[in-house]
Amino acid sequence: MRVRGVKIAASVLSADAANLGAECRALVAAGSDWIHFDAMDGHFVPSLTFGPQTCAAIRPHFDATLDVHMMIAPAEPLVEAFVESGADIVTVHVEAGPHIHRVLQSIKALGARPGVALNPGTPPPAVEGLLDLAELVCVMTVNPGFAGQRFIESQLEKIAAIKEMIGNRPIHIEVDGGISAETARRAAEAGADVLVAGTAVFRNGTADAPEPYRRNILNLRNAAEGSAGA
Ligand code: DX5
Ligand code: ZN
Repeated sequence: MRVRGVKIAASVLSADAANLGAECRALVAAGSDWIHFDAMDGHFVPSLTFGPQTCAAIRPHFDATLDVHMMIAPAEPLVEAFVESGADIVTVHVEAGPHIHRVLQSIKALGARPGVALNPGTPPPAVEGLLDLAELVCVMTVNPGFAGQRFIESQLEKIAAIKEMIGNRPIHIEVDGGISAETARRAAEAGADVLVAGTAVFRNGTADAPEPYRRNILNLRNAAEGSAGA
């Protein structure tokens, strides 16, 4: 099957944290469509990563969609700070509180695009009532918190179910976790159109020697879109 127009969102979780601006520049120059920014709170997920200050610090370094993935509960108190820090998309977890619809309303009212993420253990109907507002559904294909984990196969069915639920509404389906050329292809065939990748993008490259970033991104795109390798 041929899938067209897949977007690659390189995750800066796997970047050199001491050099984030240069890493983002290099990733976008290497063909990454979006920059995916994993904000983790050490509570909703075990790791603690970046906050709005870091988001604002990287923003001037590239001209591409900044896709903020909030693994933070509660999400509401920090949404405005991420939008002010230059997030184009703010994705919150459906598991992060009882009033996620209201959080999506606030994201939209603040002028950003609202997204909703589901953990692997959360079934598709959990997002059904949010599709009037969500512009992106992020299907976690690992349990969130760490880069470099193995893709959870059972999520392919979930992607397909969510695609059906979305119908012809203009809502992205993003997959996040364990994306390689092989899993990119299967996720895209199931209906995903945005692929988040950390490990698979950064392999063998650095901001100073970014040629592997370009090759890795091209490989993922070609795998997902069904053409021959790079
Ligand atoms: C995981 C994060 C992901 C992570 C993916 O909790 O949300 O965005 O960076 O890393 P890889 O591609 O290495 O699985
Ligand atoms: Zn993420």
